[in-house]
Amino acid sequence: MTDKALSGIRVLDMTHVQAGPSCSQLMGFLGADVIKLEPPTGDITRSQLRDLPDVDSLYFTMLNCNKRSITVNLKNPKGKEVFADLIKKCDVLMENFGPGVLKRFGFDWEQVKEINPKIVMASVKGFGGEGPYAQFKAYENVAQAMGGAMSTTGLHDGPPLVTGAQIGDSGSGIHLFGAIMAALLQRERTGRGQFVECAMMDCVMNLCRVKFRDHQRLKHGPLAEYSIQEFEDFAPRAGNDSGGGQLGNAIACKPGGANDYLYVVVQEQVWPALAKRIGGDKLASDPRFIDINARRKNQAEMWRLLEEFAADYRKWDLMAVFNEIDVPCGPVLDTGDLIDDEHVRLREMAVDVDHPKRGKFTNVGCPLKLSDSPVEITPSPLLGEHTDEIMSSVLGYDANRVKELREGGAFSKSAPKT
Ligand SMILES: CC(C)(COP(=O)(O)OP(=O)(O)OC[C@H]1O[C@@H](n2cnc3c(N)ncnc32)[C@H](O)[C@@H]1OP(=O)(O)O)[C@@H](O)C(=O)NCCC(=O)NCCS
Repeated sequence: MTDKALSGIRVLDMTHVQAGPSCSQLMGFLGADVIKLEPPTGDITRSQLRDLPDVDSLYFTMLNCNKRSITVNLKNPKGKEVFADLIKKCDVLMENFGPGVLKRFGFDWEQVKEINPKIVMASVKGFGGEGPYAQFKAYENVAQAMGGAMSTTGLHDGPPLVTGAQIGDSGSGIHLFGAIMAALLQRERTGRGQFVECAMMDCVMNLCRVKFRDHQRLKHGPLAEYSIQEFEDFAPRAGNDSGGGQLGNAIACKPGGANDYLYVVVQEQVWPALAKRIGGDKLASDPRFIDINARRKNQAEMWRLLEEFAADYRKWDLMAVFNEIDVPCGPVLDTGDLIDDEHVRLREMAVDVDHPKRGKFTNVGCPLKLSDSPVEITPSPLLGEHTDEIMSSVLGYDANRVKELREGGAFSKSAPKT
């Protein structure tokens, strides 16, 4: 077996839905042995948004590749015995249950570190383990609402909007990935595990950092790069305005479809060439646009001129014209464009996976590219597919022990509750 970056790291992954599984899938891509521990009924997403009867949904199959699955009933005493033994054999324990669930199982960090002081226990919560919001459950859009993203997304005169990128769920998963890696590195020096937590609200705030920059800049005057004129005492919704020091906007192109736009950044140094290309020498020397301050003031007119020019072009053709003069720009690509895109396929960011029940589906690939850790995507496991294998190969249980546990309800939902 090829050595990978995380070869030798065993993860006990109790996470469900998206925030946790997005993190453990990345760990699996990089070679960790990820054991997905599911309730006997399975991760709820196996059946959510199903497109085919009795087949694990794409919601599940796209977030749980490169994992093995076991079912353990943690409300059953025999299930708890299995869980405690697994904790002893794993480097990382991950969970993203609602507040208080682990404590009710009898396995919060205090108990877990007693069982295995070297384990890194990683937890995603909507709002963290303490503070006035700690007891709230959270989903993606709740985190976007409370972390600053919604209030800064959309048009100035429209309602707050969520963004399609799952910054609360997969965004938290990526943060958690970084935190787990840091904890594993620290363990190399100290020999101790630790408790690692990412709150979805915190992660969204981290991704909105530049909006807090703008909020504080407001004390010293209006924000010239925004196309709006009136400001209140919070960072405004910016529409398609560039969030950085350069002006930018989405320019409508032919034939006028939903995504026929080219996002153009009018970088300071490219203006003379761009102005010449769209309006000749006259525009290049027009005092209304002569420097960035003038262009900020007159940006509505500048965008109008660019749109007038763009009306004759399709987005890719316009990009080619602007690329010739080194203007940073990119067409708005939809999921259909991307899944078949040559560049995307070449970088293995759209990868076909063969699932035993579903057949072929396309997963988004691993965005972390390591020269010494090639990624090979394997299909998501069926529910409990690896229960027997893990009981014997990881826990060393013999057939009698597995029989006793099975009869005691360790792996099934019909077992008595404790
Ligand atoms: C996502 C969320 C809102 C879902 O809420 P929920 O469907 O009520 O699920 P919870 O996590 O609160 O509870 C899971 C239940 O399954 C049970 N369960 C989970 N794994 C189990 C197992 N292996 N065996 C037996 N029971 C199990 C838990 O005991 C709990 O039941 P209980 O309330 O009777 O104790 C909640 O988990 C949450 O806020 N998580 C933290 C933030 C997060 O990650 N959000 C999701 C982003 S994608």
